[in-house]
Amino acid sequence: MSTVVAIDGPSASGKSTTARLVARHLGFLHLDTGAMYRAVTLACHKQALPADPSPQMSALLDELDIRFERDAAGNQRVLLNGADVSQLIRTPEINRAVSRYSALPVVRERLVRFQRQMAAENDVVCEGRDIGTRVFPEAAYKFFIVADIEIRARRRQQELLAKGYEADLALLETELQRRDAEDSAREHSPLVQADDAIVIDTSGLTIEEQVATVIAHIEAQTKP
Ligand code: DC
Repeated sequence: MSTVVAIDGPSASGKSTTARLVARHLGFLHLDTGAMYRAVTLACHKQALPADPSPQMSALLDELDIRFERDAAGNQRVLLNGADVSQLIRTPEINRAVSRYSALPVVRERLVRFQRQMAAENDVVCEGRDIGTRVFPEAAYKFFIVADIEIRARRRQQELLAKGYEADLALLETELQRRDAEDSAREHSPLVQADDAIVIDTSGLTIEEQVATVIAHIEAQTKP
């Protein structure tokens, strides 16, 4: 039986960085499910498919091939049908569109199947919105990562700047609030905290501190 560490939380809460570093520390696979929803959104955009179920979308999902690979520097890359889309899935355009595509049951069913398949074969740190509630309700360890909205907007701004995109802080805050509302209000697998998840507020924490907090909880639960 493989081990699952589930990490959920809203956008820019610090969960991706935490998940990546915790996975590295434990030697587990980092399963970034947000990257999968982003890859589907990109694939749909490339074919000009709107966020509505259609025979074309079903065909796209049937042929979908998403893989995670490590590059020479040890960074995880996302491959969509063989092409490296790691940068293309993190543009402002995809940021804006992804909630609409990830709300579609047909998309979620396909990706959840894929996520369970990956976890059947590997120990994983799986991050997303519905991991501890729906994808792996039996996960050995569950965390829900939160942070103040201003801090999340500032982190997103830094992330975009590093990729060469200028962004207004107030607009980013509005955008994050809209995305939180869409992710939380959707009918199918909304963003909600699992009852048995440990909540970690990263607002005042450094990256090292948030990773150490998660690892300390895992070790405390693992020890007899
Ligand atoms: O974590 P992220 O910002 O890369 O996620 C991108 C989008 O994908 C986000 O708006 C919500 C959606 N998502 C989801 O619905 N379920 C998941 N398990 C992961 C992400």
